[in-house]
Amino acid sequence: MNLTELNLELSGLSPREIIKRALNQHDAIAVSFSGAEDVVLIDMLSKLTDSPRVFTLDTGRLHAQTYAFIERVRNHYQIDIEVFSPQAESVQSLVRQKGLFSFYQDGHEECCGIRKIEPLRRALKPLDAWITGQRRDQSPSTRSEVPHVQLDSSFSGRGEQLFKYNPLANWTSKEVWDYIRLMEIPYNELHEKGFISLGCEPCTRPVLPGQHEREGRWWWEESTQKECGLHAGNLKAPNI
Ligand code: ADX
Ligand code: SF4
Repeated sequence: MNLTELNLELSGLSPREIIKRALNQHDAIAVSFSGAEDVVLIDMLSKLTDSPRVFTLDTGRLHAQTYAFIERVRNHYQIDIEVFSPQAESVQSLVRQKGLFSFYQDGHEECCGIRKIEPLRRALKPLDAWITGQRRDQSPSTRSEVPHVQLDSSFSGRGEQLFKYNPLANWTSKEVWDYIRLMEIPYNELHEKGFISLGCEPCTRPVLPGQHEREGRWWWEESTQKECGLHAGNLKAPNI
């Protein structure tokens, strides 16, 4: 079955069924957990397998509430969450040269490269597939076409091809939150303080009524560039 046919099939399934199918398909597969509402993936995964594999990228710049939440999730589901930290040498060199907030001056790419992308490369190395919480409604500028499954050519896993599953692709924010409330699963308390989309502390702020959730991320940058490189495939080349 090719990728287009597979996506057609997956589009008729629920997120839970998509995860189930992905688990049947791949031995080395893990959820990439950001410490936000993508906890629904962990809830579904932990009900489908006795050995759920979950990793998180600790940039060193997350909110205190996010660290507390990651630990709460670990305890609630009694699962191991593999934490990937950036290389100390690289962080030290960036900070010595440019200070702790260089991204406000010259963009988030360099810092995200060191604190997220390189650790993600290590996290994906032993895998055949990863599962993310990306949704189309998270960003009209960069995520409106996120498929349920894709080949990830930005990274490599242990085999020839690395698959990336986005089971929540066509769920809305409301559907995610209805699930969280209905299932009474834990959530990051920052969501009670006006934060919708959550990332690193210096690069995330709450949004005002009517603002899109993505406007709270890297607010000093162009909306079409608001991807940190984890999902670089979402960025289109600029029209010249
Ligand atoms: S980001 O690229 O802008 O930071 P976003 O916060 O929307 O991504 O999250 C989308 C998905 O990317 C999450 O559901 C999760 O699968 C993955 N992700 C984002 N940040 C992290 C992180 N720090 N650790 C692990 N996965 C992450
Ligand atoms: Fe650095 Fe901000 Fe990217 Fe976090 S989101 S890695 S603090 S630039």
